[in-house]
Amino acid sequence: MSNAIPKKKLTVVGAGYVGSTCAHLAALKNLAPEICLIDIAEGRPQGIALDMNQSAAIEGFGSRVVGTNDPADTEDSDVFIVTAGLPRKPGMSRSDLLEVNGQVMRSVADYIRAGSPEAIVIVVTNPLDSMVTLIRHHLGFPSRRVIGMAGVLDSARYSWFIAEGTGAAVQDVDAMVLGAHGDSMVPMADRCTVSGIGVLDLLDRDAVEAMGERTKKGGGEIVKLLKTGSAWYAPASASVAMAASILRDEKRLLPCACLLNGEYGIENLYMGVPAILGAGGVERIVELPLRAESRALLQKTAGAIHEDVLAMRDLGLF
Ligand code: 2OP
Repeated sequence: MSNAIPKKKLTVVGAGYVGSTCAHLAALKNLAPEICLIDIAEGRPQGIALDMNQSAAIEGFGSRVVGTNDPADTEDSDVFIVTAGLPRKPGMSRSDLLEVNGQVMRSVADYIRAGSPEAIVIVVTNPLDSMVTLIRHHLGFPSRRVIGMAGVLDSARYSWFIAEGTGAAVQDVDAMVLGAHGDSMVPMADRCTVSGIGVLDLLDRDAVEAMGERTKKGGGEIVKLLKTGSAWYAPASASVAMAASILRDEKRLLPCACLLNGEYGIENLYMGVPAILGAGGVERIVELPLRAESRALLQKTAGAIHEDVLAMRDLGLF
């Protein structure tokens, strides 16, 4: 991975745990000369940015983090990572956040559309599949430039469980989770490998299925432990990996929430699928040959996403 700083501007929307960690990781990786961190809380993004910049002398990064409450400071951004909104609390489903976070998406879309009409937008806010659908509607951008972060996070969790189960280094695990960012997500056990060795050649199917089930509940497991919020390190790492592939035109093939128009037999719905991310955003959606069972599971997860989209319409969010 090159260390040259691309002449680009990255904006992180939301200076909560996920957003501030995104800004920190992006600075450490020199992802852009300017990293803007915006939040509605007076002083919070400014204080975080100043603290982060003061670590540059030690960490050696060249990026400059700008904290602001003013959307005008985000103008001409190349990439946005949108994390703003409320996190889940114990007992809440991601869908419980629909209305409150849907309103946040509408206001964020307004200033992105006005100030950065060519930007590529990575959405993190939950419920992810609905929020990326909603913000793309209000942005009016081509779907290749509005992408949801979920599959990279869910696949990383699945990889961790597989590494723990096999005793192998997590770097050697190649796992993929497709579909919704929710209980109906589809861990692709048959396609997971450890250094090219099928995971089902290393562990019995029941054990791998159990890891898949734990992955589906991965976010909720952390919410339950934390009691006052949701995960932020792995979500931030996943978001920044996607932003890096776009800002550096790395062409990484990553599971992302993309708008499907016929792929996997699904029309006009955002869902987690393998995609190649480059300077143009989603440069290719990869359609995997699927066993009948996996195809049925993807249809089921699409149904769950569609129900949330209809709920947003009922709430008048579109
Ligand atoms: C998670 O799964 C916050 O949705 C995120 O942890």
